[in-house]
Amino acid sequence: MTRRVGGRSNKAWAGRQSSEVFREGLIHLRTWSHIMEDATVLVIGSGGREHALCLALTQSTRVGSIHCSPGNAGTALLGVNHRLENNATSTIISLAKKLNTDLIVVGPEAPLCEGLADACAEQGLACFGPVAALAHLEGSKLHAKQTMRAAGVPTADFQTLDEASDIEAALDAYAGQPWVVKRNVLAGGKGVVVTSDRSEAKDFIESSIALDGMVLLEAFLPGEEASMLVIMDGSSYVSLPASQDHKRAYDGDQGPNTGGMGAYCPAPIVTSEVSEKIHRRILQPMHDHLASQPTPYRGVLFVGLMIDEHDDPYVVEFNVRFGDPECQVTLPLIKTDLYEILHGAANDRLKDVKVDFHHASALTVVLASEGYPASPIKGRTIQGLEAGMGRMNYGSSWINIAGVSMSEKDTYIASGGRVLACTGLATSLGEAHEIAYAILSTLELEGGHYRKDIGFRAISGANGI
Ligand code: AMP
Ligand code: GLY
Repeated sequence: MTRRVGGRSNKAWAGRQSSEVFREGLIHLRTWSHIMEDATVLVIGSGGREHALCLALTQSTRVGSIHCSPGNAGTALLGVNHRLENNATSTIISLAKKLNTDLIVVGPEAPLCEGLADACAEQGLACFGPVAALAHLEGSKLHAKQTMRAAGVPTADFQTLDEASDIEAALDAYAGQPWVVKRNVLAGGKGVVVTSDRSEAKDFIESSIALDGMVLLEAFLPGEEASMLVIMDGSSYVSLPASQDHKRAYDGDQGPNTGGMGAYCPAPIVTSEVSEKIHRRILQPMHDHLASQPTPYRGVLFVGLMIDEHDDPYVVEFNVRFGDPECQVTLPLIKTDLYEILHGAANDRLKDVKVDFHHASALTVVLASEGYPASPIKGRTIQGLEAGMGRMNYGSSWINIAGVSMSEKDTYIASGGRVLACTGLATSLGEAHEIAYAILSTLELEGGHYRKDIGFRAISGANGI
């Protein structure tokens, strides 16, 4: 896959000095373009997902300029970063209007839950991301469960508990397998505890009730997880190839839960038979429900799945955004112009867009700061990133920037828990694994850690141990 934006080649792009590009903070794709239709896109967010979205949008012949708010050191190479005084919906809308934005693509869930898509609709701005009432599918686990029950979608049995509940009796009801306790709020990845330790489950139930007034206790689903990203609007839905994340911090799925330490796509666990069940039992009923709402769902629905030993799929969770790092490995497999897909979905015209995929595999491995996820140490220099600058664009392998900033001395420093991800794209998962890890081996971050076994369920010999 050769990156070419408005006639400018990958090589020329890579030749620019990173610090020069970053300091300028802006590369106006519009000025290079003679073949584009000049659309202006504003991407909201600052993580690896947003860098991946911007990268995929640079492949579009329809996109003239890319803006990102707040963005990161990677998105600064692809467009203009905008640091706003605050992230209030009204501030973002003002920026979008000032830029004459043709499409707003919302990366994280929080702005959607706060009503960014609603405000866009009021202002006549096209927004890829659902309105707040539907973003609630991620914002409230209870709402997601009730929606699934109403739509007949398979998911784990659950109870809600509050101050008046008999917690011991509820724990007894789900004894014999790990307890799954979920807060009913957006908790930045810290809202779920899965534990075989009864007192830990009880403590989390009590502290959640004290904080939120209620909590969910859910039956444990055994099996293997997979993620399905489904683009949808009122007219249609399109599922992207299934991927698999690695949520635990350490090799062999050990250690604490994280935002995700690596992913690969496609995930072989989702065979065509499993995929057919997912469509029939989950995606079609969810789309029927979401398309019939007063404002249809316009965006991506992230379906977190558990596939059991009988190859039956159950929904573990819904998110109303692209997964991170699933996004990094899924977008490169889309052959169709991403702008056409996202713009189509934002305008209820998805059914008119024919979405094709590359027959390829992608794998990404996340480099995290020391102490991640509990208390990441920030501010350390990343060695090798300057030399790897050309690798922040599509090629056979590249770097997706997440928590990276520029120091006053013009060096790249880690400014987040998940720092970056190295992504490989190849004809086989094994090769994608090899080239992704090859990039990682050229980078150094004191105390930085990464999993050595990304893809171990799908690639023999990738167990890293
Ligand atoms: P959630 O935020 O709901 O996706 O939960 C975070 C993680 O907890 C999931 O990715 C699963 O690994 C695990 N998990 C959540 N619910 C269940 C369940 N009912 N059974 C087994 N594992 C679960
Ligand atoms: N990687 C899981 C998520 O984005 O929620």
